[in-house]
Order: sequence, then C-alpha cells, then structure tokens
Amino acid sequence: MSSTIKESKGEWGSKIGFILACVGSAVGLGNIWKFPYITYENGGGAFVLVYLVAIVVVGLPIIVAEMMIGRHGNQNVYTTFRDLSKNNKFWKLLGVLCLFSAFVILSYYSVVAGWTLDYFWQSLRGEFASMSIEQSGPRFGAFVGNGWKQIFYHSSFMGITGLIVWKGTKGIEKAVTILLPMLGFFVFLIACLSIYKYGSSETVNFLFSSDLSKLTPRSILEAVGHSFFTLSLGMGAMVIYGSYLKKGERLISAGIWIATLDTLIALMACFMMYPIIFGTKMALSSSSSMLFTTLSVHFNALPGGNIVGAIFYLLVAFAALTSTISLLEPVVSFAMDTFNISRNKSTLFSTVIIWLLGVASALSNGAVKFFTDLDVLTRLDYLASNWTLPVGGMLISIFCGFVLSADEKRSELSSFEARVIYPTWNFLIRYVSPILVFIVILNMIGVFSK
Ligand code: PFF
Repeated sequence: MSSTIKESKGEWGSKIGFILACVGSAVGLGNIWKFPYITYENGGGAFVLVYLVAIVVVGLPIIVAEMMIGRHGNQNVYTTFRDLSKNNKFWKLLGVLCLFSAFVILSYYSVVAGWTLDYFWQSLRGEFASMSIEQSGPRFGAFVGNGWKQIFYHSSFMGITGLIVWKGTKGIEKAVTILLPMLGFFVFLIACLSIYKYGSSETVNFLFSSDLSKLTPRSILEAVGHSFFTLSLGMGAMVIYGSYLKKGERLISAGIWIATLDTLIALMACFMMYPIIFGTKMALSSSSSMLFTTLSVHFNALPGGNIVGAIFYLLVAFAALTSTISLLEPVVSFAMDTFNISRNKSTLFSTVIIWLLGVASALSNGAVKFFTDLDVLTRLDYLASNWTLPVGGMLISIFCGFVLSADEKRSELSSFEARVIYPTWNFLIRYVSPILVFIVILNMIGVFSK
C-alpha cells in the first residue's frame, strides 16, 4: 500500500536542510515562552542544569530513536510501526496515537500561533506603544473573544502551513532555511536591546548560579517533561523527518545538533525577557497569555519601539510555523498512503479537517458560549501535553529498545557510532528514558502529590 505513491516520499536535499527542519520543529512556543517561565519559577541556574541533564539523558536518546525508526521503516508513521513490528496489534496502535497527537496539537497550536499574526500587525501599527499595562489584559480578552478574528487568523496560519507542506520536503527545507536564521538573528538582536536597556547582570546571576535549595522533585520532573516537549518528541514528527533522510547520514551527530540549537534558542529567549522582567520588576504569571498582555507593552517600550515589538511577534510566528509544518507532515504522509492520493490532495484534505477541529478551539475563548463552556483549547492542550505525548514517547523508546533488533539499530548508525556510542545509547533508550518518562506520567496523574 505504502509503495503505490512514490511521489510522497520526499528526500532532504542536504543534511543541513534536514537538521534545520528538525530544529524548526523543536523550536516553538515552548522555547520562547514556556522555557523562560518555568526556569524563572524553578529558581534559575539549578533548574537549567537539571534541564540540560534531561536533554542529554532523555531527549537526545529518544530523538535518535525516532529518527532511526523513521529511516529504517521509510514509510508513514502508521505503516512504519505496523511493518517494523510485523503487524503487531499493540504497536500498530502506537502509530495511531502519534497521528492523533499531531492532529490534536496542530488544531489548537494554529489558533495560538494565529494570535501572533494579529500582535505583529498591531505592534507595527503602533497600537501597543500608547497602551498601559492595565489596558493590555482587556485588549487581549476582547481579541480572543472576537470569533471572526479568531477564525481569520487560525485560517491564515493553517493556510500558510498547508502551502509549505504542499511543496513537500523542498517547501519545508526552503521555509526553514529562510526562517530559522532570521529567527536566531532576531532573538539575538532583541536580547541585545533588552540587555542594553535594562542590563544583564541579574539575568546572568540568575541563570548561571545554582541555588540548589529551590530545586524540588517536582521541578526535576518538570525539567524532564519539558525536555521532551521542546524537542517535539512522542508524536512521530522526527520519525517522518527521519524517513526522508538518506542512508549514511549520522543520526547521533544530527541529534546533538538539534538538541544544542534548540537549547541555545531557549537560553537566548531568557536573555530577551529576563532583563525586562528584572528591570521593570514585573510579576511573571503562569498564564501563557502573558506573552500577549504585559510583554506586548514592554517590548514596544524598548529602543526601536513598535518595530521591535512587531519583530518579536513575527519571530514567535516563525517559530510556531516551523513547528506546525512538522505537525501537518505526518498526517499528510499517512493520508497519501492510506487513501492513495497525491500530496496536493492529501495536504488539502488534511489541512481542512484539522482546520475544522481548530475552529472549536478558536471559538472557545469567549466567542461562542457553547465552546467557551467546554474550553476546547485548554482541554486539548492538556490532553496532548500531559498524556498523548509522554505516553507516545515512552512507547517509542520501548519500541526502539526492545522491538528493533541490535542489528537493525546498528545498521542505521555510522561504524564509529555503532562501535563507540551504541552501547550507552541503547542502555539509555531501553531503561533510563522510558523509566524517567513513566515517572513523569505518574507525576501527571498525581501519584507523588498524595
Ligand atoms: N517543540 C514545540 C515547542 O517547543 O513549542 C512544540 C511541539 C511541536 C511539540 C511539535 C510537539 C510537536 F510535535
């Protein structure tokens, strides 16, 4: 079935294109908003240290596992798990779970990503330059409660994502090759402006001095959970990107590049925000809407005013776009094989269905009472972040650790990687990663808080 449409199976033009696509998937709202916030809440330096350990011990092994499974299976996510497990019923369900996660996450991620387009436009027009902090909250409330605007921006974001995926690996490679360097440059630029206006000493002290007393078992679990979310693991994005990778490219070195660049962007995002947070003594709330309320006014108050604010929201939109591409691709690839249709038809079909589910999230922030009561966006986010991604990631590491044979795994590594790094990596993927992710899941269901 999977071999009927050969057009579907793209191939990366270069290793750097592949790495940028994976970095694009990993870098998103998680880096620019969530990482600075959870690091702040968990006391800074000590948390950063634990997070780095989590990236190396959990994130990196799973990222390599996903790429390895993808390249070895060389099909869509569902048929990869089906065929590599020799049609095992349980492992077939893992493919379904991955697709379900991608479908659900993209539907609401596109709504939030759409907000950045409005904030980009309004920053450019100077709306926030004359706004007080007190006015920023009600402004955000009125915006998300406006059904037509929500649908317009959600549709725009899904449309742009669909157009890029329509072009296949070439479109994805082109988009990330342009967007990611711009993203890196702008994050760096805004961090410099922020440091220029408010200074960096408090930020440096906070991030690089380890106050171990603030570290709790919960924050260790949070670091593990985030390492996992930030690298887009557990829903097959890396499986599908890996399936487009030529034999012979080194998986472990690719994984190291992806994890390193993702972490660098997250740390630079701290340097964009912390100087403002420390300099203005603003309270950091746990609400993700903070990105669209208080910070919108502060960014517009930096040197360069509305242009800096506009660039900031544009770069958040870029980061989100390279993530939404990686969420749509697994669904498109699956639909092409399953319904035996072309990439164009599959992209159109998948985009419309996911868009439809997203409409419920778009209207659930005050626009339509029925949806508001259900709070679809928050519920879907809770379901995906706390359940389907961790469960998917844990099962993927067990699959790679125990279902794939040692020969199959070694055949995907370079001779150096197979000889020197394989034993350690295999130990991590078999025992350390699944057990740690399992502990994260137990934490989610509140086992440790009783
Ligand atoms: N890694 C993205 C972020 O840090 O925002 C979020 C994400 C994207 C999670 C794609 C999962 C995914 F499949």
